[in-house]
Amino acid sequence: MKKRIAIVGATGAVGEEILNVLNELDFPVESILPLASAKSAGLDVEFRGKIYKVKELTENVFKENPVDIAFFSAGGSISEKYAKFAVEAGAVVIDNTSHFRMDSNVPLVVPECNPEDIKEWKKTGIIANPNCSTIQMVQVLKPLDDEFGLKRVDVSTYQAASGAGKEGMEELVAAMQSFFAFKLDEFKPQTFPYTLALNLIPQIDVFTENGYTKEELKMVNETQKILHKKLEVSATCVRVPVLRSHSEAITMHFEKDVDVKKAREILSKAPSVKVIDDPQNKQYPMPLFTSDTNETYVGRIRSDINHKNILHLWCVADQIRVGAATNAVRIAQKWLELN
Ligand code: A2P
Repeated sequence: MKKRIAIVGATGAVGEEILNVLNELDFPVESILPLASAKSAGLDVEFRGKIYKVKELTENVFKENPVDIAFFSAGGSISEKYAKFAVEAGAVVIDNTSHFRMDSNVPLVVPECNPEDIKEWKKTGIIANPNCSTIQMVQVLKPLDDEFGLKRVDVSTYQAASGAGKEGMEELVAAMQSFFAFKLDEFKPQTFPYTLALNLIPQIDVFTENGYTKEELKMVNETQKILHKKLEVSATCVRVPVLRSHSEAITMHFEKDVDVKKAREILSKAPSVKVIDDPQNKQYPMPLFTSDTNETYVGRIRSDINHKNILHLWCVADQIRVGAATNAVRIAQKWLELN
């Protein structure tokens, strides 16, 4: 049966991409309710040849315009305040923000890893979509964990500007333009703590007392929740001057020794994962080639020089799609199957 869909944050980077992915994955859509702030009310949104007017998100909008599924992608404080109104009006909420992720009553789902957790949605009416860096990483960890028993993960991320939404991407472009106008020194960043053009910023979100940032701790806590395992995870998250694909250098420590050939074979069969790993011919994943795709790409798969139970790899995925919109739509597909 076709479903009525609300998109909260329909004018944002992720909201717009959810529409593209719903269409690409052939999701059975009856109608779209695009929601945003008052400033966007009245704008047109097109979906499958039909025009829908953006409405202002209010407490009553879901009562007045009932929907079956509400995707929330307008920031944690908006989800905190408004998700309950969507649930009260009968919708399942698929939330892209960090607000509900660690709530023990809310399932946190990557359909390739823990689809069965979706069944818990009835407790609150909400299903949480993990952090973008977590999603692409667990898609790779899960099949290797099943085979070799994962004990610890060390990851360094190279995160694109898109993680900060449209404003983040626009700020990177503006900073590049300032560079070519010989005015980079005068550039005043507002979204990122420093100018991102020609720079790397080893801070995403705020620092906590233990020296890790909130973004890094999200990768730790969310990975454990999704894999249902008290795994050791340590992350260093870095913002890089790339527009929209996140990259990650991942080191995995296993209980068993790992045969690299076997690991490569497992990953090439893993759902939503594509292996590009032919270093002699300069073949490895790069953000330049992964935008607008729904797969997580891995390469540089290699055994540790010193320990046979340690494996290293390089992993790249489109942050707006795999890290947000595609995962959210895949959750909706699984939810449909189960209901
Ligand atoms: P708007 O465009 O009207 O500000 P991004 O992550 O790309 O920056 O997008 C954020 C999304 O969240 C946009 O669609 C934005 O709408 C929406 N949004 C921001 N603040 C609110 C709010 N107070 N009420 C509803 N939507 C909001």
